[in-house]
Amino acid sequence: MEIFDVIERRRTIRDFENEKINDESIKKIIDAGLKAPTNDHMRDWHFIVIKDKSIVMKLLDSIPNGISEEDMNALIKDWNLNDTEQQSCYRDAVPKQHRMLADASVVVIPLLKQKTDILHPESLSHLNGLASIWCCIENMFLAATALDYGCTLRIPLGNEAEWSKEVLEYPEDYLMPCFIGIGRPKKDAVTIKQKDIDVNDRIHWNGW
Ligand SMILES: Cc1cc2nc3c(=O)[nH]c(=O)nc-3n(C[C@H](O)[C@H](O)[C@H](O)COP(=O)(O)O)c2cc1C
Repeated sequence: MEIFDVIERRRTIRDFENEKINDESIKKIIDAGLKAPTNDHMRDWHFIVIKDKSIVMKLLDSIPNGISEEDMNALIKDWNLNDTEQQSCYRDAVPKQHRMLADASVVVIPLLKQKTDILHPESLSHLNGLASIWCCIENMFLAATALDYGCTLRIPLGNEAEWSKEVLEYPEDYLMPCFIGIGRPKKDAVTIKQKDIDVNDRIHWNGW
């Protein structure tokens, strides 16, 4: 598949078929991640690949399963989600946070070696490790798309990262930026319309 086609086709998928994914595909996707640019040349990233549903379900114990209409409306108000397309995205995504990972063929937890206090950075460069692993994650998403898989992700909230560490027993000095779910998109998987952005409105040649 041509790279620009892959970029166009990559969409966040939260509705997955009940289908297994083979280890070769998982390795190919993670290997693509490992080719991403990195701040210190070390690519000190690890990936916990969870195929065992009982471990997935234990991991997801800390993630709310669904949300009431009332709480959803409050969230939209509290988070100042004023754009109607953005609201459609959250209305689809928030209730699916638990299910999308439960239904994915595999859950992958990327891990980066925590060398600086990411939550209290002293300079922009202290965030380089986090920035680099996001390059890795996007490479993985593009590779999965090229293999006709879809990906979803969730940023851990509250105690979710701590709970993940307890369940998966990864070392203290590693940080999980997100949960990743990979699987075959359902035939009727929802994809929320991306914002229409004209590139000409966003480019400022030779200065703003
Ligand atoms: C940094 C980041 C955090 C995100 N957090 C979540 C999340 O917690 N849960 C979720 O379902 N999607 C999450 N997403 C996916 C976005 O909702 C999605 O990328 C966005 O709505 C655009 O849709 P598209 O990926 O289909 O183009 C996140 C994406 C990024 C890049």
